[in-house]
Order: sequence, then structure tokens, then C-alpha cells
Amino acid sequence: MPRLSLLLPLLFVSALTTAYATPEAKAAEYVELEARAPAQVISRCTVPNTVALTFDDGPYLYTRGIVDQLEAVGGKATFFVNGNNWGCIYDSDKAGNIKYAYDRGHQIASHTWAHRHLNSLTWDQIHDEMWRVELALSRITGGVPAFMRPPYGEYNNLVREAAGIRNQSLVLWDFDSGDSTGSSVSSQKTKYTNLANSRPSTILSLQHEVYQSTVNEVLPHAISQLRAKGYTFVTVADCLGTRKYQRTGPAQARDSNWHC
Ligand SMILES: *[C@@H]1O[C@H](CO)[C@@H](O)[C@H](O)[C@H]1NC(C)=O
Ligand SMILES: [Zn+2]
Repeated sequence: MPRLSLLLPLLFVSALTTAYATPEAKAAEYVELEARAPAQVISRCTVPNTVALTFDDGPYLYTRGIVDQLEAVGGKATFFVNGNNWGCIYDSDKAGNIKYAYDRGHQIASHTWAHRHLNSLTWDQIHDEMWRVELALSRITGGVPAFMRPPYGEYNNLVREAAGIRNQSLVLWDFDSGDSTGSSVSSQKTKYTNLANSRPSTILSLQHEVYQSTVNEVLPHAISQLRAKGYTFVTVADCLGTRKYQRTGPAQARDSNWHC
């Protein structure tokens, strides 16, 4: 999406408001300026007693295992998915797993298309990484994500501005299980035990749905430890008291455009 085409209507609105400063025009200018504001960057939950367990880098093989474990305790997870990283989002099993999670009320958010370092990209390349996965999610689920987690947690002002224009908030985390940085399963479990014992008001976790041990070994431990301390497992949107999606609609039928 070229930057100029976005800015021209904004300039037009500004010119209008200067010439005819009606209340309507002022309201329009206010809305446009708000839309251009850099995205909010969120690194913790706000609703007390909530845990938002988040899983990055899918869709891959273990999505349903996460969904089913959380469903069993009346909880929800959040998935920050890529378009083409460990797998292609349009593969029928991957798309099916996303739909499975979405249909059960788990949150599907953007982790951008190909897990690139966004800070090294141009304005147009950043939007390209963002819209491809948004398009895929709107086709597969009918929902357009309100949240994006930048790969590696890396963002600059351009990334924030692009996400802001796309009506998304950036989401980081305040607890990292260490699954993507070489922590052993036992040390990941210990981190969760210590976290539960330190009893913070809220938790916004980072882990990755692409490791079998994260899903089959660490997650059951995390759930039992945190559950014992009385936390509820909710989506990122619910731990902030906001909406998961910018808009929702019917999922689309697969066609020949569904490819990576
Ligand atoms: C922006 O997203 C919010 C949900 O986060 C939604 O309520 C609102 O309608 C969206 N605005 C636009 C212009 O899409
Ligand atoms: Zn990632």
C-alpha cells in the first residue's frame, strides 16, 4: 500500500476543515488524525487475575492440542500466526486448525506473513507483511485481527505507524517461557512454577506452538500451576477488556487464490 495514497485523503480532509470549520469537518479531522496515530504497544494485561497464554509462529502441527487443553479448564488461548513460516496458512490442515481455534472462541491474531525483521523493511514491505496474513485470516475465519505481534518483538516508529493505520495494537509479553531460545523443558516448567508462586496480578506469556514439548509437556504443567493459584485463562483481548477482531463476517470458500 503506497504511503502517498493514504496521506492524500488525510490532506484533503485537513484542507476541508481549514476552509469550512464545521463541527462535522472537525470530527472528521479528529477521526483521521486518530487513525494515523502510532499503534499502542501492549506488554501486560489489565484485567486482574487473568493469564493470556499466547502461542506464536503457527500454524503448524499442535494447534488443536493447545485449544483442547484450555477448553478442558474453561480457558482460551491466543495464537499469533504467520502466513508462511513453519507452514503455509492455506494448507488445508493448517487452515482447518485455525478455524478450529477461532470457532471455539480462541483469539487469532497476526504475527505477519513471513516472520521477517520488520525494522529492516520499507513502508510498503511492512504493509505487505501485514496485509497478506490479514487477508488469509479474513478468508479462513471471517475475522480481521485487532492485534499484531511483531516477529522477534522488534518494531520501530514505521511499524507502529503502519499498524496504527491498519487499526491494530502491537502486543509484546511480560513472561517468556524460553521455548524458542533453548531453555530445557524442565527449566521452562520451573519458570512457570516460580511465576505461579510469585502470583503477579496478570500474566501475558510468550511461547511457540511449533514445539511439541511446549504443547505436550510444558503447557499441562503451566495450566495446573496457574490454575492452582486461581487464575483464569483468557485471550489477549479479554485480558485487556477489548475486542479480538476489527470486524467479523462469514468465512470464505476455498478458491484458487488460497496459496502461499
Ligand atoms: C478498529 O478496531 C476496533 C476493534 O479493535 C473496531 O471496534 C473498530 O470498528 C475498528 N475500526 C475500523 C475503522 O475498522
Ligand atoms: Zn515469532
